[in-house]
Amino acid sequence: MQLTLVKNYQEMSECAANQLIAELRRLLDEKERVSFLPSAGKTPTLLYSILAEKYRHAIDWQRVDIFQMDEYLGLEATHPASFSAYLYQHLIQPLSIQHFHFINQFDLAKMAAYENLIANRGFLDVALHGIGTNGHIGFNEPGSSIETGMRFVELDESTRIANRNLYFESLDDVPKTALTLGLQTLQHTKRNILLASGDTKVAAISRLLKQSCFIAELPASALLMAPYLHLITDTISE
Ligand code: GLP
Repeated sequence: MQLTLVKNYQEMSECAANQLIAELRRLLDEKERVSFLPSAGKTPTLLYSILAEKYRHAIDWQRVDIFQMDEYLGLEATHPASFSAYLYQHLIQPLSIQHFHFINQFDLAKMAAYENLIANRGFLDVALHGIGTNGHIGFNEPGSSIETGMRFVELDESTRIANRNLYFESLDDVPKTALTLGLQTLQHTKRNILLASGDTKVAAISRLLKQSCFIAELPASALLMAPYLHLITDTISE
């Protein structure tokens, strides 16, 4: 794992934007189309603004295919709290990206087709991950097996509480179920950037740094099994 320690959220976002563009540029030198799995959530919001302001013309975004990682069940794509709406507003629209795959309202057949599409492309090229306070990635909650595919999941109460402030008025409005790409697919993504900022992420990152292989109690440890992982965080001091 490559580890970059930064001072704060601003520095993390700038460093991550830089790294992401470097990864995309390198891949676009090698192949015509690159697949990118961006996370939703609070963590990457500033990074996406930096991409729109500073890196809009840095690469040909029309050669980047966006794949969605996770989504709440029962929210329309137009609902402001849906991850589809978030990605559209913060990433796809500002960069005028034309090629994106949303998973909103997927049923089992569509999930199977989506996983096949990803596997047939030789899995995804670059992922940008946040981490849940309980160590989840995507919506793979603790207890998820490394073999799990795309599926419907029940959200941990701690996840619902942590995500409540992101466009939900009350905890009751936060869905109890979601769908997510499984760890089986995520661990095959070639280049992974993991971001963590702030006190609420300290415990999950400290646990991750003690691991050398996957444990189901800490789903983010699946990224340790991926070909490349770069953690950029302000949760530990130098
Ligand atoms: C959320 C999402 C993840 C996200 C992570 C961190 O619940 N399922 O896709 O990366 O947890 O979220 P945030 O950046 O809002 O802290």
